[in-house]
Amino acid sequence: MNPQHAVLFQPLPIRTHELRNRLVCPPMVTCRDVVGPEGLKWYRTIAAGGVGCVIVEAMRVHLFGTDFTAANMRGLADAITTEGALPVVQLFLAQTEGLAEPADFSLADLDRVVEQFVTAARVCEEAGFAGVEPHGAHGFLLNRFFSPVANSRTDDYGGQALEGRMKLGLRIVSTLRERLSDETLLFYRHTPRLGEDYPLDDSLQFARRLQAAGLDVLDLSPAGIDEPAELAAPFASELTIPVIAVNNMCQHDRAVTALEQGRADLVAIGRGLIADPEWPRKTQAGRLDEILFCTECDEACFGNLRRGEPIGCVLHD
Ligand SMILES: Cc1cc2nc3c(=O)[nH]c(=O)nc-3n(C[C@H](O)[C@H](O)[C@H](O)COP(=O)(O)O)c2cc1C
Repeated sequence: MNPQHAVLFQPLPIRTHELRNRLVCPPMVTCRDVVGPEGLKWYRTIAAGGVGCVIVEAMRVHLFGTDFTAANMRGLADAITTEGALPVVQLFLAQTEGLAEPADFSLADLDRVVEQFVTAARVCEEAGFAGVEPHGAHGFLLNRFFSPVANSRTDDYGGQALEGRMKLGLRIVSTLRERLSDETLLFYRHTPRLGEDYPLDDSLQFARRLQAAGLDVLDLSPAGIDEPAELAAPFASELTIPVIAVNNMCQHDRAVTALEQGRADLVAIGRGLIADPEWPRKTQAGRLDEILFCTECDEACFGNLRRGEPIGCVLHD
């Protein structure tokens, strides 16, 4: 291994778990039946490539207990665990009929949403997953509760004040912490700065409160556009829990800089793993010339996602 890359392969203990290295597969919708043979094959291949943690793609919380059960998700958890990676599931609050914006939810609807997260997380726990990650990023519904532009509620769960905008995310995390096993890890994906909607400082305050509510890992996306992990740096320096940074981390120098400079504790590689799931193993073995590097053409990953077709990569499909 190139000695500069050793920082990527330091193990990281979290609660009773240990990540074998600092590399994470971020959640990516595969447009496959995630609990069927194609989904299992996909996730097993990613885990076998050597990452420390695999965050399974956004799964809709309201489908747990019916479409997704401990029985039909156990194979997915096993496929990832068998290959030595920590399995985590991203939980997604989807728009359902009539409930598309924060203002559409009655207080009873919000109680139901929190219970859906608990049900989903318990299914994941029972299936053998090490943790769950509410998806509070990228301008999707849960993230919209945090945005003073999108959240037009005037009650405790909204308004311009940060306290109201944080409330649903905090309630989900604190309820999960109370009602899950102590061993289950709680991740949360958040967008540190959403366009002009809210500043980084709002997110820092939110992150402090998430940590106090029992969060184990903060997953920031996007975490750096020009510089590696520049948006994650203030979080990593202030929080005591690990912070994940994502965005073009398949460029080794960006991943190394993010970790070496303490801008993040973990780096997630998305499209880079679609291009070459063996990026971690090849890096560890010093076989850099064998890595298929993502060229950010976005043709078969984001392109297929938009078309609703199984994602892949033009480098090998
Ligand atoms: C095909 C595809 C599907 C994605 N699906 C999700 C998702 O389910 N949840 C999520 O939070 N982000 C999703 N993302 C974003 C990635 O997790 C990641 O943040 C993004 O690709 C940037 O990382 P990269 O530069 O390493 O690709 C997706 C990205 C791609 C390419």
